[in-house]
Amino acid sequence: MSEIVYLDGKFLPAAEARVSVLDRGFIFGDGVYEVIPVYSRRAFRVAEHFRRLQKSLDAVRIANPMTAAEWIGLVDEIVARNAGEDQSVYLQVTRGVAKRDHAFPRDAIPTVLVMSGPLVTPPAEKIERGVPAVTATDYRWLRCDVKSVSLLANCLLRQHAVDAGADEVVLLREGYLTEGSSSNIFAVKGGTLLAPPKNHLVLPGITYDVVIELAQAKRVPLEVREVHESEVRAADELWLTSSTKEVLAITTLDGRPVASGRPGPVFKAMHRAFQDFKRDVMRAAA
Ligand code: PDD
Repeated sequence: MSEIVYLDGKFLPAAEARVSVLDRGFIFGDGVYEVIPVYSRRAFRVAEHFRRLQKSLDAVRIANPMTAAEWIGLVDEIVARNAGEDQSVYLQVTRGVAKRDHAFPRDAIPTVLVMSGPLVTPPAEKIERGVPAVTATDYRWLRCDVKSVSLLANCLLRQHAVDAGADEVVLLREGYLTEGSSSNIFAVKGGTLLAPPKNHLVLPGITYDVVIELAQAKRVPLEVREVHESEVRAADELWLTSSTKEVLAITTLDGRPVASGRPGPVFKAMHRAFQDFKRDVMRAAA
């Protein structure tokens, strides 16, 4: 079955979907997006994803072309039209097509794209061994809370990690941990989970929220506060979280092992809790 996408009111094969060269998403990266994991054909935390989409749209002053209920219906439809029990739905809204001018066009109609592919979560081997990461200076803009399609800095930073043989980059801004190129980052020290606060320097991750909720439910000591680079380098555990990676241990940083160099006990408990939570939520939705 070829992949079916939704573009501006129509469902069509991905290979046939076309956007104007004047689309401001193409010209300026002027748009926002979401990535929603789908387990057993059910979208996970879908209301939260559309709350965040609304915040991103408000931040960049694009009128939401649909209600949350319409969005959720559209996600269900795209999942139904594509193969696979577990999918990763990608959607983006750009400011639309207009003659090139930095200022907003008066009457452009937002371009809406929704597509879905297989959800590729980390293989067992990465869950058991963890992954390498490298640090880099976070040189992105000061609105990292907006899920913008302008991802050039994130792409450059991820490639920096790939070039170093690592899976992700751990970003530091003025001596403090922010996040990864496409994930949130947590540290553990002395059994306490340390989470950078949700502010303009990080994306408010949906998985981040699940991890915080699970930590509270499991009574894992938790501090949501700025995490200094020295604490990152001396951490007992480092994790990354995202909708596609779920929760994954970082076991080397800049070529040096994180503590023992093996995923730690707090990670193992959280990974298990996350899998249980996911299963319970999906069962309840069935
Ligand atoms: N990225 N931080 C950044 C910069 C991200 O791009 C992402 C997600 C996250 C984690 O957010 P969530 O838990 O809601 O997925 C944090 C997606 C998966 C992507 O761009 O593909």
